[in-house]
Amino acid sequence: MDPIFSARGIVKAFAGVQALRGVDFNVLPGEIHALLGQNGAGKSTLVKILNGVHPAGSYSGEITLAGETVSFASPAAARAAGVGYVPQEIEVLEQLSVAENVFAGHTGLGEGVLIHRHKLEARTRAILDDLGLTIDPKAIVASLTSAQRHLVMIARALALKPRVLMLDEPTASLSGTEVEALLEVLRRLKRQGVTMIYITHRLPEVLEVCDRATVLRDGRVAAELGRDAFEEERFIFAMSGQRLQKLFPAHEAPVGARPMLSVEHLNVAGKPGAIYGARDVSFSVAAGEIVGLAGLLGSGRSEILHGIFGRVPADGAVRVDGQPIAIRSPRDARDAGIALLTEDRKRDGLLFNLPVGANITIGNLDPLSARGMVRGDRERSAILEAMRQLNVKASSPQASVAHLSGGNQQKLLFARVLMRAPKVLLLDEPTKGVDAATRQEIYRLVVELANKGVALVVVSSELEEVLGLCDRCLTIADGRIVDEFKRGEGGEDRVLRAVAAAQAETVRAAS
Ligand SMILES: Nc1ncnc2c1ncn2[C@@H]1O[C@H](COP(=O)(O)OP(=O)(O)OP(=O)(O)O)[C@@H](O)[C@H]1O
Ligand SMILES: [Mg+2]
Repeated sequence: MDPIFSARGIVKAFAGVQALRGVDFNVLPGEIHALLGQNGAGKSTLVKILNGVHPAGSYSGEITLAGETVSFASPAAARAAGVGYVPQEIEVLEQLSVAENVFAGHTGLGEGVLIHRHKLEARTRAILDDLGLTIDPKAIVASLTSAQRHLVMIARALALKPRVLMLDEPTASLSGTEVEALLEVLRRLKRQGVTMIYITHRLPEVLEVCDRATVLRDGRVAAELGRDAFEEERFIFAMSGQRLQKLFPAHEAPVGARPMLSVEHLNVAGKPGAIYGARDVSFSVAAGEIVGLAGLLGSGRSEILHGIFGRVPADGAVRVDGQPIAIRSPRDARDAGIALLTEDRKRDGLLFNLPVGANITIGNLDPLSARGMVRGDRERSAILEAMRQLNVKASSPQASVAHLSGGNQQKLLFARVLMRAPKVLLLDEPTKGVDAATRQEIYRLVVELANKGVALVVVSSELEEVLGLCDRCLTIADGRIVDEFKRGEGGEDRVLRAVAAAQAETVRAAS
C-alpha cells in the first residue's frame, strides 16, 4: 500500500539544537500510527512540520500527501489540504464559549459569512456527542478543567473533517475512563476512514489502538514497527537504548511517624457547572508517607490540593508538623513548608518569558543568597545540578522555556519544587507527558523524599501510578473521600467500585 502521508529526509535545526536529523516517516491510509520517543526526541517538531507550524523553507526534506508533493506555508494551508492537528499545549480562548472555540477561524465555511450562533452550538453539540462528551457548548471555556479544554481542542480539529488527524499527547491530562472514551473516538474515526498520527508516552494505549509505530530517538528513526511486533519492552528499548527495570521502587510506610500534614473538614467551592470542589475532606499524612488521591477527572482531587495550598478559597483546618496554619494564599502555604507541583504547566506553572534556569530557582533564592544578595555562582551550580538530576534536555540554563519539549518543561517544574525542600509536597500529575525513563527517575525521587521525612500527596489520572507508588490510597468521588486502603489491600477494581457506588448514591439522593 502506498503511504497517504510521508516525509523523507526531514532535517530541522533550531539555534543550537539539531531536532531532526534525517527522518523518513510513512503513514498508511486508514491506520492509526503511533509516533513514539523520549522527551525531546523530536516528535512534536515532526508533526509541526507536517502541519505547517514550522513552514516550508524552515526545514529540509520532502513531504507528500496522497502522492503529491506538498509544502505547507502555514497551518491554514495544511488544514485546507485536510490535515488536522491537536497540539500538545492547550490553546483556547478562555473567555469564549466552547462552541466559539470549536469553530474559531472556521466560521462561514460553505455557508456565506454569517452563521447563526444556535447553529454553531448545534454543530458543536453534534461533534461533542460523537466524542461521547457532556460538555455544554454554551459553557465558557474558563470554567473547564484542563482535560476538558483538551477535549474541546480535539473537537475543534474534528470540525473540519480532516483526512489525516495528528494528535500530540491528547491523553496526557486525561484519566482512565476519559482515555477509554477518547480511544473509542479514535476507533470510530478510523472506521470512517480517517488516518491518524498519535503521540503518547502511555504505551498501553499504543497496544490498544495503534496499527503501526515509528520510534524516534535523538532526531532519528530508531524503529518502525508493525502491530505484530508491538511489545512495551521493545518500544522502550528503541526509545532509550536501555532496558528498564522494575517500574515502582519499593517503599514502606513509616510506622508510628508523626503526622506531617493534617487536614480537617476541608471544603472548597466547585467551579460553576463543571466540578464538585471538595466537601468535608479530612485526612492526614505522616512524615515519610506517600498518600495517593485516586478518582475520576473532575472528582475534586486537584481542588483538594489547591485548597490546602491556598490557591482557591477554602475553609477547614490545616496543620503542618502539628502547627495550625491559616492558609489564605499560596504564600502562606509556602511559608509553612508546603509545595505544590501544578498540573497545568502552561497556565500557572512556568514563566515563558524567563529562561530555563530562572524557572527553576524562582521562589527559591533565599538559600542561594548571602546577606540578601543572590550569589550568582551558587545559583548557577544549583541550576546545573537540578538539570543534571532530572536530565533536563536544554541547550543551557539561558535557553528559552518555550522552546523546550513538553516533557522537559514538566521536569523544570519538578526541579523547582525539589529545590524548595518542602515538608509537605503536593504533586498533581507528576509524570504528565514525561517519558518512561524520566518517569522512573521521578518515582525514585518521590520515594527518596519520603525517606527523608517529607509527607507526599500524589494525584494521578493513572490509577496504576497511585496504586504502585503510594503507601495509602484515598478514593475521591464528588469531592468526598469515599474509600481508603493501604498498599496491597486493593487494586484498580476497588477504586472503581467505590467510585461507582458513590455515583449511584449521588444519583439516588438527587432523585
Ligand atoms: N522552537 C524551538 N526552538 C529551539 N529548540 C526547540 C524548539 N522546538 C523544539 N526544540 C528542541 O528540539 C528538540 C525536540 O523537541 P520536541 O518538542 O520535538 O520533542 P518531543 O519529542 O515532542 O518531546 P516531548 O515528549 O517532551 O514532548 C528538543 O531538544 C527541543 O528543546
Ligand atoms: Mg512533544
